[in-house]
Amino acid sequence: MGKVIALSSNKGGILKTSLAVNLSGTLATHGKKVLLIDMDNQGNVATTFGLDPDDIEFTIYDLLVKNPELGNPDLALNKVSDKIDIIVANDDMAYFEIDVLTDTEHYPKYFELLRNVVDIFKSRYDYIIVDTPPQMGLIAANVFYAVQDVIIPFQPEEYAFRSLVKSVSAIDKFKKVNEDLQVKEIVPVKVKRTIMHQAYLDSARSYAKARNLKFSNIIIKDSIKYAEMVARMNIPVTLFEDVPKTLLPYKKVYTELAKELGYIG
Ligand SMILES: Nc1ncnc2c1ncn2[C@@H]1O[C@H](COP(=O)(O)OP(=O)(O)O)[C@@H](O)[C@H]1O
Ligand SMILES: [Mg+2]
Repeated sequence: MGKVIALSSNKGGILKTSLAVNLSGTLATHGKKVLLIDMDNQGNVATTFGLDPDDIEFTIYDLLVKNPELGNPDLALNKVSDKIDIIVANDDMAYFEIDVLTDTEHYPKYFELLRNVVDIFKSRYDYIIVDTPPQMGLIAANVFYAVQDVIIPFQPEEYAFRSLVKSVSAIDKFKKVNEDLQVKEIVPVKVKRTIMHQAYLDSARSYAKARNLKFSNIIIKDSIKYAEMVARMNIPVTLFEDVPKTLLPYKKVYTELAKELGYIG
């Protein structure tokens, strides 16, 4: 049975998608079979692999709201590499909450829609990784109902701390209905070498310690160069075989993170 992991935070631009796709890449290069599910209507998972999300006929939206009428759920799988399949999201996902909450007769268990999708595929993958939008509505509820490990990226900036505390308490609430749910790690991202960043990191670290949460020792540094390269590659850096020397540290940091998380040996 595959382990189900989500990247989550109500903030945007803090590497949820980058972590989701690069961890998928690292796990795949270590022989693991991965299903990557996008729940964000921005569709960035597809774009990372060079696909246009609007060209894809069957998306996560169809599996969530038209299952089982859809028929064969495998129609939504897109093979993007030897060991990675992705289920894409596109603009349809922007209507998920409205469509479901205005028809609760049809969707009485509206928190369990993603769990049902995950259950279909769980036995066929080592890992199912769920990328999420920066919001805490019905999508987040579905995610916290369906996954085991939540990884929370933390960018040491003003207001980030408050958002971290809120995320953790939202997850705590869902532990009542999903006993497997845990905050797996808080991962510092886009970290700059400034005194401010150090101070924000320190307070997040002591908060984590007080709450018995794991705060990652691995730091993903802020790098414009990396962001620019990524935009041009059409494949996550961790799947690159002949990585240009300048990108090697980024590939390495994701491998170390996957090891720290215990997902690879
Ligand atoms: N180490 C890094 N430093 C700076 N920017 C990065 C880094 N890694 C990725 N990025 C860029 O940051 C932007 C936001 O990342 P993304 O993963 O899309 O965040 P989210 O999914 O949380 O909105 C993207 O353009 C991405 O390419
Ligand atoms: Mg994203």
